[in-house]
Amino acid sequence: MNKKEIKHIGVLTSGGDAPGMNAAVRAVVRTCAYLDVQATAIMHGYSGILNKEFVPMKAHSVSKVISMGGTILKSSRCLEFKEREYRAKAVENLREAGIDALVVIGGDGSFRGAHSLYTEFNVPVVGVPGTIDNDIYGTDFTIGFDTAVNTAVTAIDKIRDTADSHNLIFFVEVMGRDAGFIGLDTAISTGAEAILIPDYTTTVEELCRFLKHDRRQSKSSGIIIVSEGCRLGNATEVAAKVKEKLPEFETRVTTLGHVQRGGSPTSADRVLASVLGSEAVNALLNGWEDVMIGQKAGETVYVPLEDACYKSRTVQERKYVIARMLAI
Ligand code: ADP
Ligand code: F6P
Repeated sequence: MNKKEIKHIGVLTSGGDAPGMNAAVRAVVRTCAYLDVQATAIMHGYSGILNKEFVPMKAHSVSKVISMGGTILKSSRCLEFKEREYRAKAVENLREAGIDALVVIGGDGSFRGAHSLYTEFNVPVVGVPGTIDNDIYGTDFTIGFDTAVNTAVTAIDKIRDTADSHNLIFFVEVMGRDAGFIGLDTAISTGAEAILIPDYTTTVEELCRFLKHDRRQSKSSGIIIVSEGCRLGNATEVAAKVKEKLPEFETRVTTLGHVQRGGSPTSADRVLASVLGSEAVNALLNGWEDVMIGQKAGETVYVPLEDACYKSRTVQERKYVIARMLAI
């Protein structure tokens, strides 16, 4: 830890938006206001630093945003930021605006950008994990995950009505990039009959055997959760492979898609975002830099940004075993 004087903090959201990001921005701005630190919003992620899109924030600037989905700061995928010369330009712009430190709300890609600002230019940075995928090392939950799972569960409960009424096997694709967190919790919450996540391999033969199993004879319909990144392919491809082997099954496919990214955040996400956003400001003022603020077993933790960027995290094996046991 290296205590620098921090009087002015910039905050940005980057990468895929996630419900609860606004609650995190609000917490950063309000904590700054409470502690008499100037807060500046940087619009459109890292592009906003390059384009000097700086908006001074007061406590009232974030009124009523706690319940809003998306990000009021907007987000972007800024490819230039992967190049050092653009990061050097960004640092020049931050210094010109008098911004002493940055809070970056986003996923591991966004943290890589933040980590480089620290290692190359000594800019104090703190990351706040915001992504529906929940795939960030060092924290139990990321902002947006709980809302995304609840959105998927609400949708699948409705799909279940049609599946039951018409004796259909539905293949429902959920997001998660290459991680199975959304898939696993959604499968357990909806009582899905089968679950395909990237973390564990299932063959088509195994899936078909399971669907035809004696213990399942009483079931005439089913929900199969196919997580994005699943090794058997996307939901349409998996459905086609099963249909080829079990032509007697009537199948349908639903891809939930970006509906999982939007909407008003759940209470769990609002609380998580409020705590992490506020602790990010406190961390900077207390000399922390180049860390991500996370939560483990309900306690705030300070995770080296390098670990948050590069270490991977997979679903709990036991939870996966339980999901399968309960699916008979
Ligand atoms: P997420 O933060 O959700 O993982 P991305 O991977 O799209 O999303 O990253 C968001 C942004 O972070 C990118 O558009 C880019 O501006 C920046 N970024 C990603 N990777 C790097 C990197 N290796 N170096 C510098 N900046 C990066
Ligand atoms: O990281 C969040 C996420 O929604 C992933 O679950 C998904 O793979 C990806 O972003 C989709 O990104 P885009 O909207 O750019 O296609």
